[in-house]
Amino acid sequence: MLTNGGIWRDTAGEIIQAHGGGILHHGGKWYWYGENKGGETYRKGEIDRTDVIGISCYSSTDLVSWKHEGVVLPAVAGEEDHDLHPSRVVERPKVLHHRASGRFVMWVHIDTWDYRTGHAGVAVADSPTGPFQYLGSGRPLGHISHDMTAFTDERGVGWLVHSADWHSALHIVRLSEDLTEPAEVVGIEFVGARREAPAPFQHDGKWYMLTSGCTGWEPNAADLAVAPNPWGPWQSLGDPCRGGVDPELTWHYQSTFVVPGRTPGHFMALFDRWNPGNLGDSRYIWLPFQMNGADTVIEWQDSVDPSRV
Ligand code: GAL
Repeated sequence: MLTNGGIWRDTAGEIIQAHGGGILHHGGKWYWYGENKGGETYRKGEIDRTDVIGISCYSSTDLVSWKHEGVVLPAVAGEEDHDLHPSRVVERPKVLHHRASGRFVMWVHIDTWDYRTGHAGVAVADSPTGPFQYLGSGRPLGHISHDMTAFTDERGVGWLVHSADWHSALHIVRLSEDLTEPAEVVGIEFVGARREAPAPFQHDGKWYMLTSGCTGWEPNAADLAVAPNPWGPWQSLGDPCRGGVDPELTWHYQSTFVVPGRTPGHFMALFDRWNPGNLGDSRYIWLPFQMNGADTVIEWQDSVDPSRV
């Protein structure tokens, strides 16, 4: 069992550092990638931040017990202009598996400390536990990119969803066949809604996306949206969060990923509770839920056994 909002430790007893993360299921194992925020929190300008350590990877056979596989995309100290320099922002990593080549492709939000650069970066590896080779970053098809996620659909087509042009919309971008390049903006959606922290998933021939509002480390209301296709049109179904304390503030958490369960229609939503005063002590909640069309709800639960999802 995992205690939602508690301190989660890996198999070596160390605190799990995998914030803004995502999970890949591959070869009978689960791989959890996330931001390692284990350093000191300090304030720069108006922003609470930690120096980049890199992207951690943990592996598990049951989603409960997690073995640290190391920092698979480490910071690059010494080169101040490098995207992965400790002074930068390296957030919300998501790893895809490219079926034809067998390679693993990581997409990650890359930024300067002031979030004014707005890039998406990409790295590749031959193994899910890395090491990942960093290929570089850019503004996808010319658009400033902040919170992002990447996923492959049931047909193996890759997608990048990112908050574009200062949060004016979420862009739905089809990736190149090898998953390493943005190929085409196919949808400009959630226009004017200022949504971020996108977590898309597929169910019963439709596409769904959990998102947050746009208030930095502070919490806000979640939204679940539905679309017939990844490119939309996306329609809000409202805030699915129920129960617990302050569900209208996502219980003080923010979405990052949705894991499909073993049984069709069952999923688990992953959220981060940011602690701006001590970002390394940001916590996790994982909430199993069942799809029920427009009436889908995500109920607070004090503890979770993800192996049963
Ligand atoms: C949030 C975003 C986080 C992080 C934070 C910094 O809006 O979802 O990933 O960038 O802002 O304040």
